Amino acid sequence: LPIVILISGRGSNMHAIAERAACGDLPVEIRAVVSDKAEAAGLATAASMNIPTRSLSAREFADRASYDQALAALVESFQPRLVVLAGFMRILSPGFIAAFSDRILNIHPSLLPLYRGLHTHRRALEAGDALHGCSVHFVTEELDGGPLVIQAQVKVRPGDSESTLSARVQRQEHRIYSQAIDWFARGRLQLREQRAWLDGRPL
Ligand code: GRF
Repeated sequence: LPIVILISGRGSNMHAIAERAACGDLPVEIRAVVSDKAEAAGLATAASMNIPTRSLSAREFADRASYDQALAALVESFQPRLVVLAGFMRILSPGFIAAFSDRILNIHPSLLPLYRGLHTHRRALEAGDALHGCSVHFVTEELDGGPLVIQAQVKVRPGDSESTLSARVQRQEHRIYSQAIDWFARGRLQLREQRAWLDGRPL
């Protein structure tokens, strides 16, 4: 399955997906890794794995709609059947989402619907939650609100900091994102009637 991965930073999820694809564990072809930040460390990681990379900075565009139009054209030029958001830190406009409707996945570092938006680890710690985790969902116009595909829980430990907790969550992110992409690539996962379906059953 041809895919394009969008990142803004480190790209550890992208790297985990690329490694599984490279060893034949995941039936995807990463056509490109695209970043809105030229300095994103994940671009160098992707390049070192011989994956084509592009960066498109929003600074060159007057507004969100024109940036997203250019981004959609760039992504579309690689003809992906799935767009994978992996730490892409921009909110996508309805125009972009419509261009790839039913085929955009995102990973979010919380047990959605808890903690949409930013600083999820800090918020879970401040709330005194015993459980935290991550979620893969289809992207719709509702920010971090699209239909859930898979979640993983981690226990919050006494003495956890944002960084110890996020490291534990990230290990789960790498596992569940590959799982969701594998399902999609094998035709087992769909977005229909505003729900995620696995093997013909609503999740
Ligand atoms: C992850 O925590 C992901 O859940 C969030 O952004 C972070 C990206 O990390 N959306 P990385 O760039 O994949 O290392």
